[in-house]
Amino acid sequence: DHGYFTYDPGFVSTASCESEITYIDGANGVLLHRGYPIEQLATHSNHTKLSYLLLNGEIPDDEAYKAFRQSVSRHTMVHEQIVNFFKGFRRDAHPMAVLCGVAGALSAFYHDNLDITQDHDRQVSAIRLIAKMPTLAAMCYKYNIGQPFVYPRNDLDYAENFLYMMFSNPCEEYRINPVAAKAMDRIFMLHADHEQNASTSTVRLAGSTGANPFACISAGIAALWGPAHGGANEAVLDMLAEIGDESEENIQRFVDRAKNKQDAFRLMGFGHRVYRNFDPRAKVMKETCDEVLEELGMGDDPQLKIAKRLEQIALEDDYFIERKLYPNVDFYSGIILRALGIPKNMFTVIFAVARTTGWISHWNEMITNGTRIGRPRQLYKGYTQRDYPGHQ
Ligand code: SDX
Repeated sequence: DHGYFTYDPGFVSTASCESEITYIDGANGVLLHRGYPIEQLATHSNHTKLSYLLLNGEIPDDEAYKAFRQSVSRHTMVHEQIVNFFKGFRRDAHPMAVLCGVAGALSAFYHDNLDITQDHDRQVSAIRLIAKMPTLAAMCYKYNIGQPFVYPRNDLDYAENFLYMMFSNPCEEYRINPVAAKAMDRIFMLHADHEQNASTSTVRLAGSTGANPFACISAGIAALWGPAHGGANEAVLDMLAEIGDESEENIQRFVDRAKNKQDAFRLMGFGHRVYRNFDPRAKVMKETCDEVLEELGMGDDPQLKIAKRLEQIALEDDYFIERKLYPNVDFYSGIILRALGIPKNMFTVIFAVARTTGWISHWNEMITNGTRIGRPRQLYKGYTQRDYPGHQ
């Protein structure tokens, strides 16, 4: 009861949804995808198998995996006319701005002949989006640096193909670095899905109106871009660069800025809407960061040292302890991506590539189960009714 109005008990029900895909226990730092802990998936699975699991509910057997992998590979190319959309952007446009624009155009190329009331056509939509997002992402990078687009290859797996489209060029042979490919696949897996986060909720709300899946995913990309959400990984690198070195006073200065809320500053890559304990993805990401930088001969990377020292100081500080603020998935991911040669303006684009699997799995679940149009309610805090001046 708000004093003016009372709200029907249905208020909460319109603000939540049911799903079988991902479970998060924020108090204990647990993340399950279709019941499997993220730590075990990161160790034993790969992004393509995880995509099948999120979409279909079970780990694929060898035959199903082979068919799914082949189907994804065969849909990685995009319509040649999509190249024209890139030419409308300035070369120095942020790759997320380009991806938002180009992904929205997919509706004009891939939806017309699909009937999303049919399970088969929903599967086709999902595979097309999972397959084409890495191609569009790599095209955003190539356009940004002025190099020619690289066509995908069907003989490479998901992460290898993405790195190939990002870094190969017509002038020399490109060799896949297995360390980089494994790290890229791990990053794709750790970002694949995360229950009803802001961008997934955006996709579900758009999908509840009957909008086509390509348009819904482009809405999710826009929501992900914000620095409070998927844009944090890029902001972490900016913060580590601004800290400059791992000296105690330098790092403490930033921790104090966050504690004093100086110009609303927050430690990027810290805190979470749901986790009040370690984000389990952050733990795996930190281990992967150590492994990859060691294997690439960058174990003494200065930004990694700053990140570790910052984490240590913050986790010992009452301000962070009292508010249960821990590193989240974005805290270490940027250091790995930078070590793979990926510029920070591409970090959120890569998050979007990975999350496309989660977005389209939630969209598919919602459409399959049937849903009413989403209609979040509000707590009205405005005037009660009043008459316009002079009204008789
Ligand atoms: C992602 O939802 C998802 O699952 C998202 C995601 C996914 O996979 O989809 O996990 C991905 O978005 C991870 C989060 C990435 N964002 C950042 O790292 C940006 C920095 N983090 C914060 O902006 C913040 O922690 C949020 C937005 C992530 C969560 O905000 P909350 O839960 O709404 O917390 P809050 O704003 O209510 O803050 C509670 C208190 C406040 O202080 P008091 O008012 O109690 O004094 O904690 C403080 C905040 O000022 N606080 C921080 C802080 N985060 C919260 N203080 C310093 N640094 C921070 N990072």
